[in-house]
Parts: sequence; structure tokens; C-alpha cells
Amino acid sequence: MSSDSTIKKCIFPAAGYGTRFLPATKAMPKEMLPVVDKPLIQYGVEEAVAAGMTDIGIITGRGKRSVEDHFDISYELEHQISGTKKEEQLSDIRRLIEECTFSYTRQIEMLGLGHAILTAETLVGNAPFGVILADDLCINAQRNVMQQLVDVYAKYRCSVVAIEEVDAEEVDKYGVIDGQEIEDGVFKVNGMVEKPDKDKAPSTLAIIGRYVLTPEIFGIIRATPPGKNGELQITDALRTQAERNMVLACRFDGRRFDCGSVHGFVEATNYFYQIYRSRKDA
Ligand code: G1P
Repeated sequence: MSSDSTIKKCIFPAAGYGTRFLPATKAMPKEMLPVVDKPLIQYGVEEAVAAGMTDIGIITGRGKRSVEDHFDISYELEHQISGTKKEEQLSDIRRLIEECTFSYTRQIEMLGLGHAILTAETLVGNAPFGVILADDLCINAQRNVMQQLVDVYAKYRCSVVAIEEVDAEEVDKYGVIDGQEIEDGVFKVNGMVEKPDKDKAPSTLAIIGRYVLTPEIFGIIRATPPGKNGELQITDALRTQAERNMVLACRFDGRRFDCGSVHGFVEATNYFYQIYRSRKDA
């Protein structure tokens, strides 16, 4: 492996149906749901870019065209608002379009997160890469979650997952790790299980939607049988990688909103609305 620890690529699985938000997501990708004035996936891409990842790979599926259009120039619109105050509202997305390259690959069948990540192999090649699940919207005062994972990767050169402590009642919504803390907030993973029943969970340390993965994971995913709910689970592949090699979990500093749920989405909206208001009032 190269001695260079920079990670340029970040993958966004975005092929899911978003059934928890029906009917809003009937004809519109859940990744495009706006938190105040910005679609969820844009928050994720901004996080990746702040962590140095400008090579963005998006795994799409049927009905996801608007994601591609969002990360592209809209000549008519730009012409229309050119020279007006509204131009400013497009400045963030314009900057992303200038700084990043966007590649897309299509997941034909929804066979699980592991399968979605495997679909991205053609975009990733043989280099470590980030994965962001955009419906986990994260905020931090200092270094964002992906930057925190990259820091751990730079030190240990292995796959790293982000974790947070959740209520015991909630463990069946997440991948849950069995780990041993080797430095403040960094755990060596001994095992992990996808969405365990409360009484079978090894801990209350839940994986949230941020990963740095080494490319060995692709071969492991390929050899992993379907797991929970008959889906190919990244959690199962990472457990194998932890047994063979090493996988770390990073208890990140910051706050996460579960925007895959209506409750978390509304919380995030309230949070970002306060920021929006204070910017407008300033
Ligand atoms: C996925 C993963 C799970 C992880 C979660 C984080 O589940 O399979 O291990 O804890 O993301 O959001 P999903 O929420 O897609 O069901």
C-alpha cells in the first residue's frame, strides 16, 4: 500500500427507495429532500469535500435523475438569475461543481448496503475510500465526522467506521460493534452485528453512516453471503475484515440527525433553520 494517506474518493449509496418518507419520495429521491434550503446529499458532499475527498461517486438507481442534475450546471436557471441577488443562493453548489468530479453508477437491484458498495468498485478501483450515507446528517464545531475517520485511517491504515452510543432500545436499527478502546474514542473491533435484538447486542455502540474502507473490502463483500433481511450487509463484510486484519471504530465528536426518520429530519430542519435565521438576521 502507498505511504500516502490521502483519500480522494467518496461513495454515496443513493439507490434506496426512501419508503419511510412516502408519499414525498414516490417520484423524488429521498437524497433530494431539503433540510431548509439544501438537499440532504449536498450536506454529505460538502462534508466529503471538507475532508479532502473531491472524487465523488454516487450509486444511483431508477428515478434518481434529479441527483445528477443537482450536481450539474443549469444553464437556463443561471442565465435567468444572473446579475440578481439570487445568484448567491447557488454559490455553494457551484463551488462543489467546480471542485469535484462526479461519477455515477447504477445499482440495478436493491440487494443491501454491501451490494451497493460493491457496485461502486468500478468507480473506486484499488484505493481506500470514504462512504457517506446522506440520511445521517452530521454536524461538528471543528473537524467533521469524515475528517475524524480520515485521521484515524492515517494513523492505522485500516477500515474505520463511525460509531455513537445509542439507547439500548434502538440497537435493532443499526450495526452494533463489540470493541475494545485502544485510545480515546478509538475502538478495535472484535465483532459486529447488523441490527441485533436488544438482548443479543454486544454493546450500545452503533455504526452510523460514515466509513473509510480499504479496497480489500470488495473481495470480502463478494464472498459474503446475504445476512439480515436477506441483504448483503457491509457490517458482515467488515466483521470478516476485522477477524482477518483490523477494523477500527471511531466514536466521533459531534451530533448526528437520523434524517432517514421523520423525527430526525424535523430535528435537523429545526437546527438548520436556527442557523439560517441567524444568517438572514445578520
Ligand atoms: C445501514 C447499515 C447499518 C448502520 C446504518 C447507519 O442501515 O446497514 O449497519 O448502522 O446504516 O445509518 P440502514 O439505516 O440503511 O438500514
